[in-house]
Amino acid sequence: MKITVIGAGKYGSTLTEKIARRGYADEVVMVDIVEGLPQGLALDMNQARPIEGYETPVVGTNDYGPTAGSDVVVVTAGKPRKPGMSRMDLINDNAKIVGGVAQEIAKTSPEAVVVVVSNPLDEMTALFQKVSGFPPHRVMGQAGMLDTARFQDKVAAAAGASPLSVEAITLGSHGDTMVPVPSKVTVDGKPLADVLDQDTIDEIVDATRNGGAEVVALLKEGSAYFAPASAAARMVEAIATDEGVLMPVCAWVDGQYGIAEVYLGVPVRLGAGGVTEIVDIDLTESELADLREAAEAVRAKQADVDGLV
Ligand code: LAC
Repeated sequence: MKITVIGAGKYGSTLTEKIARRGYADEVVMVDIVEGLPQGLALDMNQARPIEGYETPVVGTNDYGPTAGSDVVVVTAGKPRKPGMSRMDLINDNAKIVGGVAQEIAKTSPEAVVVVVSNPLDEMTALFQKVSGFPPHRVMGQAGMLDTARFQDKVAAAAGASPLSVEAITLGSHGDTMVPVPSKVTVDGKPLADVLDQDTIDEIVDATRNGGAEVVALLKEGSAYFAPASAAARMVEAIATDEGVLMPVCAWVDGQYGIAEVYLGVPVRLGAGGVTEIVDIDLTESELADLREAAEAVRAKQADVDGLV
């Protein structure tokens, strides 16, 4: 099992370490254009292994040669946003970067399952699929796992509960039309509406939508990477170990939820082939309306992206 991470920035390097540490991969290859950066980080990570107790080696490289034949590829390449920027402000720069990566991966790892995390997420995922020509079930984006984790953490804090006691799901885009789904949230098995009042729930939904910007505003340089890397690592593990587990993923939707032919955050099963099934869960009328609105917003932007590569 060979796993490649494109980009050795904070997100890419944190993700690489999280994947290697789990021990299911034979090798994790980290690619970056900055000379010495992926090699130096790989050396550093590998030297932690005797202490941490795992064997998976990390290989750092500036070219795609060592990535050839990867089973799973994660694309973190691209610029992060600065305070005050929306993810959409990155679209021109990152379309060129992600388009270039897609061409390289199509040549060197034509059978790979690909997870895109570059922003704006839904649009970059659509762009990767288009440029690579890979079947849509093998190209997906990470957003829902992260947005769900933020939703869970904020619910837990408001309810005074453990973050591990909160079940939740977040759908839609990784942007303004994100759709946290309060009707599906439970705290210690109890429906959210029995635990928190409606005003608090509304505030948490808004705060979840702004969860990325909240971190960017504090960091001033760059965006979040610990929780995002945990989210992408969890998806990679589900694919690499053929788990078939249900996760919110930016996937190609083709008729489910009355939505057709767009990349959007929906519940899916992840396994060896990538997205093995898009799962219909019951949503309230207003949640479903929000999901369809998100689909139209993303569809309009994804059409714009077609002109950028
Ligand atoms: C975030 C970025 C990584 O949500 O999109 O933190």
